[in-house]
Amino acid sequence: MPKSPASDGANEYITLTDHSTGKTVDFPLLPGATGPKVFDIGALYKETGYFTYDPGYTCTGACESKMTFIDGEQGILMHRGYLIEDLAKQSDYMELCYMLLNDDLPDSKQKQDFVRIITEHSMVHEQLKKFYDGFRRGAHPMAIMCGVVGALSAFYPDSIDILDPKQRTVTAHRLVAKMPTIGAMAYKYSIGQPFIYPRNDLNYAENFLHMMFAVPAEEYKVNPVIAKAMDRIFLLHADHEQNASTSTVRLAGSTGANPFASVAAGIAALWGPAHGGANEAVLNMLAEIGNADRIPEYVEKAKDPNDEFRLFGFGHRVYKNYDPRAKVLQESCHEVLDALGIEHEPLLDIAVQLEEMALKDDYFIEKKLFPNVDFYSGIILKAIGMPTTMFTVLFAIARTIGWIAQWNEMIEDPVQKLGRPRQLYTGATERPVIPIHKR
Ligand code: CMC
Repeated sequence: MPKSPASDGANEYITLTDHSTGKTVDFPLLPGATGPKVFDIGALYKETGYFTYDPGYTCTGACESKMTFIDGEQGILMHRGYLIEDLAKQSDYMELCYMLLNDDLPDSKQKQDFVRIITEHSMVHEQLKKFYDGFRRGAHPMAIMCGVVGALSAFYPDSIDILDPKQRTVTAHRLVAKMPTIGAMAYKYSIGQPFIYPRNDLNYAENFLHMMFAVPAEEYKVNPVIAKAMDRIFLLHADHEQNASTSTVRLAGSTGANPFASVAAGIAALWGPAHGGANEAVLNMLAEIGNADRIPEYVEKAKDPNDEFRLFGFGHRVYKNYDPRAKVLQESCHEVLDALGIEHEPLLDIAVQLEEMALKDDYFIEKKLFPNVDFYSGIILKAIGMPTTMFTVLFAIARTIGWIAQWNEMIEDPVQKLGRPRQLYTGATERPVIPIHKR
């Protein structure tokens, strides 16, 4: 019975039969704490001479993790056993960051200490500012994020020994603390305003808003409603198990690359419109629709197999039900607009009607396409004055904790090794190279 180290103690097996040879092989079936079982195919090639083929890794578990669980059919998301809806009501982003790095939510003292550490790490090395000057004014802030975060290892070489748990912790704290500063600086640079230093008397979300919107010429007061909404957006985006950017961070990290470089790789993966770039794309799409009368036209375009257009903010690889984060954000969206006294937001009206129409449409029903987290986040962010180009940066700031906590979990996992998928080769078979004058 083939086993890999992950399958020690397995007592259930699944038998595969190769009908061409009649050979049968048992593979260990592993139960998770909840959710579908997986079978361990680590010994498949050795036993059968075959690889698996799974483009997009739709059925492939690449690691064991204790951090986040998603039941896509039921629309459930839990972090370390706590439902996301409960965390959004009873907890906050700093507590979730603590919990993703540790095993459970902090008590008051643990939270106080953690917040103090994060606050004290929020400034960046002065020299890092010079990096921004290398970018064109008006550069997309995500382009700047990819470059600047990638450069961090050059500034903090004292915390890149991946085998030292203390250094890993310091790096995690540094990344969580500095990302809002780096993100706000990317924005300030792109609009030609001076950088604003972090302030230790403000909480995480307030500080980010302050660095984004304050100017040296006048006082800026953070609106508590906006700060609360910001914190909730951070919390809802903190981690989402093995999504494309997190898998990218794990894959880059599996080579032994330092954590700053690995997280920079994650930022690049997040930028795409199928992933974190969707929140920006949703708002652009709603603006392009412009008027509720045009919704049917866009729904038809999304359904047309000959048209590449998709409804941004709809559909998810794992959720085949309403994304629970979208539900929380839908509520928050109305709360924020009420609190800010915005009685009428045309883009929200379009979004609500678009959602209604899509949820009743057979195409979306059959394919189980529901609103995802990005559908409502953009409207909240717009209402609180966040520029559209910063939407994905916000996602990156929030997801940094997920990336670095998952990276840390991978480094500590004795079973993990270099990530190196195989392929189904369909190119030319061996042939001679003909000298150029005879080709
Ligand atoms: N609009 C119209 N049709 C869609 C959509 C959509 N938004 N999403 C999926 N489909 C169709 C797709 O054309 C395909 O049809 P068919 O079976 O006829 O070829 C079917 O549904 C299955 O789609 P898929 O692309 O095979 O599914 P996937 O799991 O690879 O894609 C997705 C997931 C998120 C990339 C996709 O739903 C999508 O492109 N959505 C729009 C972008 C978006 O909102 N992304 C944010 C995801 S949530 C936040 C995050 O992860 O960062």
